[in-house]
Amino acid sequence: MTVLAGKRILLVVSGGIAAYKTLELIRRLRERAASVRCVLTAGGAQFVTPLSLAALSEQKVHSELFSLIEESEMGHIRLSREADLVVVAPASADLLAKMAHGRADDLASTVLLATDKSILVAPAMNVRMWEHAATQANLKTLAERGVRVVGPNEGDMACGEYGMGRMAEADQILAAIEGFFAVDARLSGRRALVTSGPTYEAIDPVRYLANRSSGRQGHAVAQALARLGAETTLVTGPSHLADPAGIEVVHIESAAEMLNACREALPVDVAVCAAAVSDWRVAEVSAQKLKKNGGAPPSLDLVTNPDILASLAGAGNARPRLVIGFAAETENVIEHARSKLEAKGCDWILANDVSPGTGTFGGAENTIHLIDGSGASAWARMTKEAVAEKLAERIADHLETPAGSGGE
Ligand code: C5P
Repeated sequence: MTVLAGKRILLVVSGGIAAYKTLELIRRLRERAASVRCVLTAGGAQFVTPLSLAALSEQKVHSELFSLIEESEMGHIRLSREADLVVVAPASADLLAKMAHGRADDLASTVLLATDKSILVAPAMNVRMWEHAATQANLKTLAERGVRVVGPNEGDMACGEYGMGRMAEADQILAAIEGFFAVDARLSGRRALVTSGPTYEAIDPVRYLANRSSGRQGHAVAQALARLGAETTLVTGPSHLADPAGIEVVHIESAAEMLNACREALPVDVAVCAAAVSDWRVAEVSAQKLKKNGGAPPSLDLVTNPDILASLAGAGNARPRLVIGFAAETENVIEHARSKLEAKGCDWILANDVSPGTGTFGGAENTIHLIDGSGASAWARMTKEAVAEKLAERIADHLETPAGSGGE
């Protein structure tokens, strides 16, 4: 049984080349025993046919506002209410604008105005349209009204340009939908904090020290915890990944900002530090761009950054019940991770080998050894998303045991 079994999704499909991904989304939702009823806009019908949507959803597709037949079979108000969640995918710039301004000039916009159910949108558009102040203002308005947003992602666009605006993939939208329905799940009522991505340490107004972390593992952990129902805060350094849906995301740049944001997120039941925090920062950030100075390079004085994991583990009364770190090692993985567990005072370390050739750093897969006070267990090589799911289940197991019993 998945959280989606028996759930009714009203899926609004508006105009965009990304509509082909929506077909895959319907298939995935149906596999999970959710029912899907589609509303197709005139623009959407330029990209996918009512027949494809009807065949995959096994339900009639709705597209006419002023149709006597459609209205007599199922009025638009009923359509907007007989759902547990309304999903708009793709959500075009035009439909988002209509939603923000309360317009209702076709079936999709009318249903979106009339519904009393939660709405999740998956925007899809050209990068300039996405970045336009009007679109951003519309999204801000919608977010303030509680509309959830998944994606968009950065990448190549069908129009030949590159940037933000690609609709989230079907599995990301699915995860966002599952996250929405996870309120009755194992971690509901729990609070989680996750750090992710690299940190950028400024040298001067234009230069910085950083590393190649993608944030993929940390983002996946935040998503997996939220999917199990945890109220999750993700504190992330700069990353190309889309903000996971249904999660409070705090964007920071430096380690000092990450530490502050983490402290503000307390109290939490579990903290997972997956960020690749820069070990050092420049002692004094230059207020002006450093000059070449006749060819001589500047000498940078570095100071050590705060250790966020150790700081959360040593937070006294505010210490999360479970504090978890990652250890990226290139040799003696388990041994080094065990000493890190002790030095930082955390409860578990997920150790992984990032030697050249493993493809782990910045890659899609990870091989984990979980080290806790009592020993080490090896996990098979799997995707970072699968690592995140397995970890979230372990966290839920642990938090279900009474505090103070074993390993704490
Ligand atoms: O010491 P090392 O960087 O190998 O430790 C890795 C673990 O410590 C990771 O969980 C990372 O997120 C965390 N860390 C941190 N703050 C730092 C350095 C590392 O939270 N300044």
